[in-house]
Amino acid sequence: MASDIQASMLEEIEKELKRQVARLDQPRIANFHEMLTYHMGWTGEGSGPLVTGKRLRPLLTLLALSSCSELNEEGNGVVNWLHAISAAASIELIHNFSLVHDDIQDNSSLRRGRQTVWAKWGAPMAINVGDALFVIANQAIGDLAEHYPSEIVVRATRILSDCCLELTKGQFLDMSYEGRTDIGIEEYWPMIAGKTSALLSACTHIGALLGYAKGEKLEAFRLFGYHLGLAFQVQDDILGIWGDELVTGKSAASDLVEGKNSLPVLFALEKNGPFANRWRQGRIAPEEVNEAAALLEKEGGREYAEKVSEAETKKALGFLEQANPQGEAGRIILEISNRLLKREQ
Ligand code: IPE
Ligand code: IPE
Ligand code: MG
Ligand code: MG
Repeated sequence: MASDIQASMLEEIEKELKRQVARLDQPRIANFHEMLTYHMGWTGEGSGPLVTGKRLRPLLTLLALSSCSELNEEGNGVVNWLHAISAAASIELIHNFSLVHDDIQDNSSLRRGRQTVWAKWGAPMAINVGDALFVIANQAIGDLAEHYPSEIVVRATRILSDCCLELTKGQFLDMSYEGRTDIGIEEYWPMIAGKTSALLSACTHIGALLGYAKGEKLEAFRLFGYHLGLAFQVQDDILGIWGDELVTGKSAASDLVEGKNSLPVLFALEKNGPFANRWRQGRIAPEEVNEAAALLEKEGGREYAEKVSEAETKKALGFLEQANPQGEAGRIILEISNRLLKREQ
């Protein structure tokens, strides 16, 4: 059954993440370990399964792997997805490292409905927490060597480190665009390709590689993740302005306050109407946010972004079709891709 394999993957991902993070479970540094387990959603105020995040990336990795071959009656493909669990955990740790640092960079005090690491322990400690998650991620991918030939481990490691560098390029662009009024939509794409798509395409690429996909099939999986990542970030931009704080777990409308040149904003800037005029006059104050969001919606910023997200999802699904995912895992990938377009958190 679909939910069975998905549920057991999620369960094993959580176990492996805990095992990897336990590298820091040592005397003298209990508070440091706690900062990581807090961020991962396992300890501290409000901890529990609702605040771990969706674990979308490791799930996609394992599903891509499994869908490279038909599943047998035990729910395993020819390649056992459990053998790739450390790679799945590694990707989720990279994601979490980027979130801890991103919340400092974006001045965000709320993540997954809880105080961010920097808001709780200060930016210097949060930088160190992010660094630790990054290093543990790099150690975790090395554990693949227990089940995979070294040539594959080296390739997977390379994909992951290339993607991390892309991520920093995307974050650089994102921050350097803040507050600027001369950015066009064409400058948006390299920014989100780096900050979000790089990691999502690494998921489907590494997953397929570990499922022993080759040539065009491997490339189709990579491109599927890439376009899914673009659609995902555009959707995130919509939620960053019109999302419900209680559902997204992130501060409502903070993207407008932070002067983020997200897609709806860039659309309105090109339209050059009343929203663009207001944007050019300087930062939106928190008490002005609702009014600004309403104006942006009226000028078509939301509708435009929704259309773009849909178009990117379609492209992603085209590549998924080429990748020809098999069995139950393939069906779940399709279902998740469609669901992401309607996601509210
Ligand atoms: C948030 O990603 C960061 C973006 C790339 C937009 P997710 O929405 O996947 O975050 P969690 O892990 O589920 O909290
Ligand atoms: C998403 O950045 C990508 C990374 C975290 C690297 P955003 O700043 O757009 O994402 P949220 O909205 O804080 O999750
Ligand atoms: Mg950011
Ligand atoms: Mg952010």
